[in-house]
Amino acid sequence: MMEASLPLVLLLACTAGAKLRFASYYGDHMVLQKEPYRAIIWGFGDPGSKVMLTLSQNHSVVTKMAQVDESSETWKVILDPVAQGGPYTIEVHQYIKEEVSNMTLEDIYFGDVWICSGQSNMEMTVSQIFNASKELEEASKYPLLRIFSTALIQSHVELQDLGGINLQWSIPTARNLGHGDFSYFSAVCWLFGQYLFEKLKYPIGLIDTSWGGTPIEAWSSKRALHECGLSEYIERNPPSYLDAGPREVSVLWNAMVHPFVNMTIQGVIWYQGEANTLMNTDLYNCTFPALIEDWRKAFHEGSDGQTNRDFPFGFVQLCTDRQVELNDKFPRIRWHQTADYGYVPNKRMSNTFMAVTIDLGDDESPYGSIHPRDKRTVAYRLHLGALAIAYGEKSITFQGPYPQKVQVNETHRLLNITFEEHIQLRHMDSKAFEVCCTDQGTCNWKPAAIVSFSSHSVTLQNPTCTDGIGGLRYAWSEWPCEYQLCPIYNLQALPAPPFITFSHSNPAWIRL
Ligand SMILES: *[C@@H]1O[C@H](CO)[C@@H](O)[C@H](O)[C@H]1NC(C)=O
Ligand SMILES: *[C@@H]1O[C@H](CO)[C@@H](O)[C@H](O)[C@H]1NC(C)=O
Ligand SMILES: *[C@@H]1O[C@H](CO)[C@@H](O)[C@H](O)[C@H]1NC(C)=O
Ligand SMILES: *[C@@H]1O[C@H](CO)[C@@H](O)[C@H](O)[C@H]1NC(C)=O
Ligand SMILES: *[C@@H]1O[C@H](CO)[C@@H](O)[C@H](O)[C@H]1NC(C)=O
Ligand SMILES: *[C@@H]1O[C@H](CO)[C@@H](O)[C@H](O)[C@H]1NC(C)=O
Ligand SMILES: *[C@@H]1O[C@H](CO)[C@@H](O)[C@H](O)[C@H]1NC(C)=O
Repeated sequence: MMEASLPLVLLLACTAGAKLRFASYYGDHMVLQKEPYRAIIWGFGDPGSKVMLTLSQNHSVVTKMAQVDESSETWKVILDPVAQGGPYTIEVHQYIKEEVSNMTLEDIYFGDVWICSGQSNMEMTVSQIFNASKELEEASKYPLLRIFSTALIQSHVELQDLGGINLQWSIPTARNLGHGDFSYFSAVCWLFGQYLFEKLKYPIGLIDTSWGGTPIEAWSSKRALHECGLSEYIERNPPSYLDAGPREVSVLWNAMVHPFVNMTIQGVIWYQGEANTLMNTDLYNCTFPALIEDWRKAFHEGSDGQTNRDFPFGFVQLCTDRQVELNDKFPRIRWHQTADYGYVPNKRMSNTFMAVTIDLGDDESPYGSIHPRDKRTVAYRLHLGALAIAYGEKSITFQGPYPQKVQVNETHRLLNITFEEHIQLRHMDSKAFEVCCTDQGTCNWKPAAIVSFSSHSVTLQNPTCTDGIGGLRYAWSEWPCEYQLCPIYNLQALPAPPFITFSHSNPAWIRL
């Protein structure tokens, strides 16, 4: 009898504590979300055991207890709000029967955690952009920016933890930042973090979870797709110019976003939409707001209410591309990215911010014109939106001028567009504005040249329309402007976003 029980005792001794680990995305050097939010730390353990977590900096120690859940085999600790700074050490001890096991995280900082997601323009690395070697050299100047990159993984079910990691939390170096084309680390994410750090002067944690050639449907949960009447998704042959990633519904939401819902974050930035010029283009005005709403709900619930229910969500409006056969699909996605308002935030997209990039096209990009290399200006414009929306700097302008009023002077064939903001006209353009000549109920768009301007208005020469004017649009093409040379900017050098407006539905149209 004695002999028979011996292996059992040995087995217990060997396996006790065997399951203790942090969830995969907790690692040395990481940034946890600072006050006023409460950071969450969770992991796996032996069912029924107790877990004690200590957070310590020098001689100050905070201790929290938790229990490993019997069925999910997870434990979770919600810290009290911690001010920016560090470094801290986190130690976890697990007690099961007589067995004690432990594990440690070192060099932990508190600051703001941002998730960066999307397709290839988010994935594009620092080594692919303009001034790459200089940007990489400067990486080591930012030891309080910490970077993390998920592996490219898809799943048909929502994963609890990541299936793989490309770059565990790291202190940035030229080497780990510039890791080959379209791999890691994201240039837009990195430069966005850099601008935030320059302003905020405290640690920033950046999580890059992006995959080239992927449509929004892959990043959306089934719930979000259902909101837009999409339940299943027919795979199509990806066009060759896109590095096609997975295109099935929800597979990237499941594997590359869902695992993060259990941590506390500050916000998300997003650069995606090119793949949706090839599918469900006119559903994007539904799928994008639905994704934002769904991610917010999921992160709020997954973090026991610690991540803000209405967390700031920033995005890049599509840049340019030389694909003639796409017709007006680029401008349509740009418009739908704003839920058809033309600007953000708006009634359907609260607490969002946008970087307009129609003037950052790059014909010479070795990665194809769809992958422009000026990512610094993209990140600069995006960070202005973050300061205004996420950091309460209400006086910061992050969007270019938007028209307030259109006056039609029929007798003299003039169209006068008034802007609330002071405008800067970079050139007397003759093509960027187009007028809708109504022709049996449909629009025949004709270019309308700028003939004069003032600090708050531009006047267009109205083309002859036999049946009158039904609408007006601006920058409504795949490639509306040359580099940094759109017609209209504000005094902060931010380009006016594209717009489309129809006289029958817009009370701001005045006929003189
Ligand atoms: C903790 O020690 C570090 C040096 O290791 C020091 O820079 C820091 O100010 C100390 N923090 C506190 C809160 O005493
Ligand atoms: C953690 O466990 C190791 C053995 O795995 C042990 O050597 C060490 O003393 C433990 N540390 C603490 C602080 O309990
Ligand atoms: C989205 O855009 C399409 C095409 O312009 C339009 O028919 C549809 O009503 C819009 N849907 C929403 C929800 O705005
Ligand atoms: C993570 O969030 C999911 C979804 O809200 C929830 O079911 C799960 O219990 C959470 N896990 C932990 C460890 O908090
Ligand atoms: C590249 O670096 C030069 C010199 O510092 C600078 O003038 C230029 O604006 C940079 N270009 C971009 C796109 O950042
Ligand atoms: C256009 O409108 C603005 C503001 O209403 C006005 O100041 C300006 O004189 C108008 N220009 C023309 C040519 O009518
Ligand atoms: C129409 O434009 C002409 C030329 O600028 C101007 O003289 C006239 O007053 C305008 N008409 C109205 C009603 O504003």
